[in-house]
Amino acid sequence: MGQTLTEKILEDHLVEGDLETGEEIGIEIDQVLTQDTTGTLVWLQFEALGLDEVQTELAAQYCDHQTYQFDFKNTDDHRFLRSAAGTYGAHFSRPGNGICHNVHKENFAAPGKTMLGSDSHTPTPGGLGELAIGSGGLDVTVAMGGGAYYIEMPEVVNVRLEGELPEWATAKDVILEMLRRLSVKGGVGKIFEYTGPGVESLSVPERTTITNMGTELGATSSIFPTDENTKDYLERLGRGDEYVEIGPDEDADYADQITIDLGDLEPLIAKPSMPDNVVPVREVEGTEVDQVMIGSCTNGAYEDILPAAKMLEGRETNKTTEMIVAPGSKQASEMLAKEGWVSEMMAAGVNFSEATCGACIGIGHVPASDSVSLRTFNRNFEGRSGIEDDNVYLCSPEVATAAAIKGEIIDPRDLADELGDLEDPGFEMPEKYTGSKADLIAPDEAPDDELIKGPNIGDVPLKDEMGSDLQGPNLLKMEDNITTDHIIPATSDILKFRSNIPKLSEFTLSRVDDQFADRAKQSDGGFLVAGENYGQGSSREHAALCPMYLGVEGVLAQSFARIHKANLFNFGLIPLTIDEETYEKIDQGDDIEIVDDVAEAVRSGKEEFTVRVNDNWEATAHLDASDRERQILADGGKLSHTKKQAEGG
Ligand code: F3S
Repeated sequence: MGQTLTEKILEDHLVEGDLETGEEIGIEIDQVLTQDTTGTLVWLQFEALGLDEVQTELAAQYCDHQTYQFDFKNTDDHRFLRSAAGTYGAHFSRPGNGICHNVHKENFAAPGKTMLGSDSHTPTPGGLGELAIGSGGLDVTVAMGGGAYYIEMPEVVNVRLEGELPEWATAKDVILEMLRRLSVKGGVGKIFEYTGPGVESLSVPERTTITNMGTELGATSSIFPTDENTKDYLERLGRGDEYVEIGPDEDADYADQITIDLGDLEPLIAKPSMPDNVVPVREVEGTEVDQVMIGSCTNGAYEDILPAAKMLEGRETNKTTEMIVAPGSKQASEMLAKEGWVSEMMAAGVNFSEATCGACIGIGHVPASDSVSLRTFNRNFEGRSGIEDDNVYLCSPEVATAAAIKGEIIDPRDLADELGDLEDPGFEMPEKYTGSKADLIAPDEAPDDELIKGPNIGDVPLKDEMGSDLQGPNLLKMEDNITTDHIIPATSDILKFRSNIPKLSEFTLSRVDDQFADRAKQSDGGFLVAGENYGQGSSREHAALCPMYLGVEGVLAQSFARIHKANLFNFGLIPLTIDEETYEKIDQGDDIEIVDDVAEAVRSGKEEFTVRVNDNWEATAHLDASDRERQILADGGKLSHTKKQAEGG
C-alpha cells in the first residue's frame, strides 16, 4: 500500500515511534514560527535552556498581534523580541511588517519541510507542501533547542477536488463548504490532504486560504501536493530553487475521503457567530451591512485585495457602509500602492490599515453596537470583534466588496446583473513579488547581540532535577473542577504580565485564596491538594509554570484534566492521583512526604507511591505517566530535560 504525502514528510522527519494512527510519534522540526503574544515566553524559556543559538534550520519571530504601542509594554516586548532574535539567530519581522503566516509564506515556507508555530493558524503554508502544525510555546522552545516534537499520529483524510471553480466562487468558498459539511469539530485529530484534478486549477495563494482555515475545522494540519503552480509561485517570489516535487503515492491509503466538485460551488457566507454556520450568500441577501473588512491571515494577501480593488474601480462604497482594507503583509500594501490600486480604493471610500492582526482580535475597527460586519477573516466567535453584541459574517473578498458597493449583503452574481458592467475580477498573481525587505531582519544583519529586557520582562525559572526526598506542607486544599482560570486568571489586567513570571505568579490561585502566593513563597516547597478534574479549561502553560515558580513540587488530586496534566509534567510538578478518602482526610497545612527515593521511583516506572501525612498516617497515590513523561518529570520539566539532552546527558 502506498503512502500519503503526510506520511512521507513525517517518515522523513521521524525520530521516534511508528506511523500508526493514535500512536505517539516524535518528529524533527525544520522551521519554527512565533508571534509577539506567545513569543516572549518562548524566548525567555530559550534563554533558560542556556543554548547559544537556535538549532532548527530556520526560526522566525513576528510582531503582528499587539502591534499598536499604547504604553511601554508592547513596545518593550517588541524590542525584547528583536534582541532575542538577534542574539539567538532568528529572523525578526518588525511590527507593521505583516501577519506571521503571510510573511512566512512569502519568505520562508518551503515544500517538504516541517514547521512548528506558537499560533493556531500555523498550518497556512500547507498550501505549498509544508507540513506545519500549531502548538504551545514550550514545544516551540524545545524544537528550537533541537528537541523532537511529540504528537499522536493523526488520521490522514483525503479531500478530493474535482472540476473548476465557476465565476464568482473562490477558494474561500471551498473551505466554507468544508465547514458547512464537517462543522468546527470535524477535523479534530486529522490532517486533511487535498488531491484530485481540481488541485491544479488553484494557485498557491488560493490553496493557502484553504489550509489556513483548516484550523477552524479543528484539524491538526492541512496540506496540498506540489506541482507547476507551486514552482511558478516560488519563482515569482524569487525562490524557485526551493521547489521540490512532492505528493502522495497513487495507491495511498487514507482513513477517509471527502469529494468536492469545485464546479458545484457558489458564493457562501458564515453567519454569526460560528465559522461553520455556513449558507449560500443568496439566503441572507438584503441584510444591511455597516462595515466591511478585507484582510487577516486568511484573505489579506495581494491576490485577495486585488479583486476588491478591481471591483471598486470607478465606483464608490455605499454611504452607510464603512470599508477597511487591512493587508496581511506590508509587501502586499507596497505592491498595491506601486500599481496605483491603493489610491484607486481610497478614491472609492476605502480606509487602509497597517498590516496587522488588529481587528481580527478586536484591536481597532470595532463594529458599532448591534451592527453587521462582513469580514474576510477566519473566525467570527461572539465578542471577538471587540464588542459583545456583534454580528460578524465571514466571506470572500468578492462577497465583502459587493456588500460594500450595495450597502447590504448581495450575491456578487446578482450585483453584476443589477449593475450590468461588473465583471468577475478573477484571481491574478503579480509577475514578480517586489516588496522591500526593510522590515524583515535576517540573523546576519541583526542590530542586537544581547537581550534587552524592559521592566515588564522577567526571567523564566528552570527547575532542578528531582531529588530523592519530596516533602512539604499542603499549601492549599481545593474543591472539584478547579480551572486554569482559577490558577492564573486570563483577564487583560493580569495577562499583561505574561512576560514577567515573578509578577504574574503573585496572582496564582488568587481567585481561590488571595494569600496563597505569599504562603507558597515563604514555604520551602509544598503541594497542592484538589478534588476531581483539576486544571480543566484552557491549555494555558502559565497555570503550571507559576506554581512551579512559587516552589510547588506536586499536585495530589482525585483526577486531572488532560492538557493541564501534560503541562504539569512539562514544568516538573508531579501529578499524583489520590482516592476520595485520602482527599477528605488531608487538611490544608498538613505535612506531606512521599515515602520513596522519588526520582528513582519515577524514572523506573513505579506507579504506586506511599504518601505519609503528618508522620502519623499513610495513603497510596498513583502516578500514571508514559516513559517519556517520567524522564521529563525527573529531569525537572521539559526545559531542563531538553537542556540535559542538548548537553548529552
Ligand atoms: Fe492574526 Fe487573526 Fe490570523 S489574530 S494570525 S489574523 S487568525
